[in-house]
Amino acid sequence: MALKRVAILTGGGDCPGLNPAIRGAVLRLAQEGVECLGMREGWKGMIEAKADPLTPADVAWIVGKGGTILGTSRTNPYKKEGGVDKVAETFKKLKLDALIAMGGEDTLGVASKLWTERKLPVVGVPKTMDNDLSATDYTFGFDTSATIAVDAAERLRDTGLSHRRVMLLEVMGRHAGWVALFTALASGADYVCLPERPVDVKDMAAKVKAAFAARKTALVVASEAVEIPGDSAKTKELDEFGHEILKDRGVAERLTAVLQKETGLEVRSAVIGHIQRGGAPTLFDRILGTRVGVKAAELALAGDFGNMVALKGNAVVPVSLKEATAKLKTVDAEWLSLFDRLSALPGKTPVAA
Ligand code: F6P
Repeated sequence: MALKRVAILTGGGDCPGLNPAIRGAVLRLAQEGVECLGMREGWKGMIEAKADPLTPADVAWIVGKGGTILGTSRTNPYKKEGGVDKVAETFKKLKLDALIAMGGEDTLGVASKLWTERKLPVVGVPKTMDNDLSATDYTFGFDTSATIAVDAAERLRDTGLSHRRVMLLEVMGRHAGWVALFTALASGADYVCLPERPVDVKDMAAKVKAAFAARKTALVVASEAVEIPGDSAKTKELDEFGHEILKDRGVAERLTAVLQKETGLEVRSAVIGHIQRGGAPTLFDRILGTRVGVKAAELALAGDFGNMVALKGNAVVPVSLKEATAKLKTVDAEWLSLFDRLSALPGKTPVAA
């Protein structure tokens, strides 16, 4: 069947690279004379049948723009009364031949179910700054977010050295420590706290003290979802997908107190938060976003539904949505040991201060 009209939605947390992906899909589909609609704010737009035309002119210059021009939400049609039926009705009402859903595990989990349970013609595009989708080597958004976090970490180290303080940076990333690990590796941090292993307070304090003794400052990077032993767990607030909303965990504050107590050093912390999700996408995210957007359009043109576009090595290839959303990709032992081996060597201060 030749496609006439394709809808595109972006769901979940936004990230740099979404606009290049939207642009890639719209431009590729326009080449084949296919009309595009942009659904407003993720699955919410599909439930409410709210869409806007999306023409090549609309996307011409968005390749370098952060966020998503379509808007986004964490709406789950499976948690709304009649939500899934409404999504199916929207396909008919708006005469959609296909839907390209751009999102992380939650958005794509819905797309996967809509395909397996209802045979709705969907194609997935992976996006998340968390980089936690197992079927793809990298997701766009991650490179930009980690790059911004590295800049923040280095700024913290500058002021930490001036004041002879330990500095701690809390980054996002949900239950996968990729952003924290890459930020720590790329900024030469002295310690990293990841959700994949409970914080070893004694080990952290010993490494921070050794680094401080050698360099008059020390830098710790911590993920927002780390477990700190001995800390009383707060009541967890959940989103529509049943995931913990992590915004109020106060990891930076709590780790600062622990570090001060254990090391006797002065510690300051900063939480980068949503700053790392805004701004222009890096070169890597612009190119990856463009490639997966174009490939998603091509899968839709070929009637290859129920798949997500994945980056495998340097190729963008289809993988089934089911496989793509089966499990989270978390930091494994090999990556952890890379950091641990490098941070075990305190070294000398690099500047005369
Ligand atoms: O999943 C992306 C992400 O940025 C996580 O790293 C973070 O925990 C969450 O979204 C924040 O969500 P919100 O924008 O809803 O506060």
